[in-house]
Amino acid sequence: MTAPNPAHLQNLVVNGFDTHYTRYFLLHIAQDGAARQFVRKLLDGGWVVNAENSRNQALTLLQHQRCPVGIGFTFAGLQAMGLPTRYLRLFQSRAIAFAEGAAPRASHRLADTGPSAVAQWEPAFQPSAAHLFLTLHADEPAVLDQCSAALQAMAGQAFAPEGWAQPFDGAHLGHNKKSRREHFGFLDGITNPLIDGLHHHTRGHADLKVTQKLQPPGEFLLGYGNSDGYNRWLIASESAEVRQFFANGSFSAFRKMAQDTVAFDAFVHSQASSALPAETVRAKLLGRWHDGQVITPEQSTPPTGPTPRTRAGLNDFDFSADPQGLGCPFGAHIRRMNPRADPVVPVRKRPLIRRGIPYTTPNERGLLGLFFCASLEDQFEHLLAEWGNKNPFGVPNPSTAKDPIVGNHEDGGGVFDIPSVTGPNPQLRGFTPFVTTKGTLYSFFPSLPTLGILADEISTK
Ligand code: HEM
Repeated sequence: MTAPNPAHLQNLVVNGFDTHYTRYFLLHIAQDGAARQFVRKLLDGGWVVNAENSRNQALTLLQHQRCPVGIGFTFAGLQAMGLPTRYLRLFQSRAIAFAEGAAPRASHRLADTGPSAVAQWEPAFQPSAAHLFLTLHADEPAVLDQCSAALQAMAGQAFAPEGWAQPFDGAHLGHNKKSRREHFGFLDGITNPLIDGLHHHTRGHADLKVTQKLQPPGEFLLGYGNSDGYNRWLIASESAEVRQFFANGSFSAFRKMAQDTVAFDAFVHSQASSALPAETVRAKLLGRWHDGQVITPEQSTPPTGPTPRTRAGLNDFDFSADPQGLGCPFGAHIRRMNPRADPVVPVRKRPLIRRGIPYTTPNERGLLGLFFCASLEDQFEHLLAEWGNKNPFGVPNPSTAKDPIVGNHEDGGGVFDIPSVTGPNPQLRGFTPFVTTKGTLYSFFPSLPTLGILADEISTK
């Protein structure tokens, strides 16, 4: 297949929306015909912004009291939409995690046990509860309210009313789009993969030392080769019509995670010492300093010089200059989740697109994590099950602790080793659960042409 056509791709997947607010609806289809009409109206009304001149599309929508949306379907949702068995079977054989859904896999593939176990998940995430995952994006909460009402009216009786009544609202903390932090206080939204044929890595950044590799589209979009040259969606035995249905779609994992900021701060301060100030402990757990710069082997105290001003500048590294983890420990969140050119890890890098946004309610703070990839089992689940919840890479490495941010610390065990040349390695102990899973939902985000096919009732031939 040639390079992806941006006009066929959902903008949420490949570029995202840079808005202050998002609202997610998890909807249960009550009438499949009405649900199809709803998808048709979304398309005809230009609500589903594609990746070509997306900014202009979003502006036009806002001028018409609308906001950009993204739309995905769970496996149960595709069944409810009447997708023929032949297509469903292809999902079942090639995208097992998506077809099964997150709940039955949570304990062994997502490390969701104890307080994070499925039995504790919110009702909207229970198996078969959600069919359609609708995302709304705006800079003003009033616009979200207005669009939610318009969409609900447009849907008529298509969905069970509870879904509309219980939105998942995300809001960035602070209004500076260039320095967004999550609830633990870390600068977030720095890194996202760049896709070959859709993004340019060098434009405007001629001064960078380590140019980020462009990822093959097949890491995120169905129908292309991934970094191993493997294309699971070639499906040579099927007709072009069937192949087109899957092409340019992407899988998403929506994961609501509550953050215990009090426990996290208490842990950081309990581990701090005169040799290892609290700010350094925090930075070692993530792998980046407060201002977003990666920790380099030469830095034992926070950097005092100017901070790179762009996201690209903050990503101008690949760990090849830190083979012993003397700057960024092997166990740190960013080194586990994206080992880049780390010499000790396997070639397969398993990139993930991230579109997370914090949420805040009177009783709870956390992150509405939204991840996109071409294979939930090979990317999203592998990161959590293997890289996040087992021993980190790196030799020699006495660390036994899980990912300090997202690991399941229910057992409290584990040692987080901080490699050092000046004396014995500091070792952090006594982790407690900082992050609790409130639910995870797997969806398929179809291309725009495929949304059209779903809207018009797919032929069973
Ligand atoms: C409450 C939960 C989480 C918090 C607070 C959190 C926080 C962060 C922060 C502050 C960064 C660095 C900023 C950046 O590079 O943009 C980051 C990076 C990242 N996180 Fe998380 N994260 C969470 C959950 C997860 C989960 C569940 C996954 C994967 C399944 C994940 C995967 C990643 C990846 C891939 C990166 C980029 C690393 C890089 O490219 O350098 N995170 N996270």
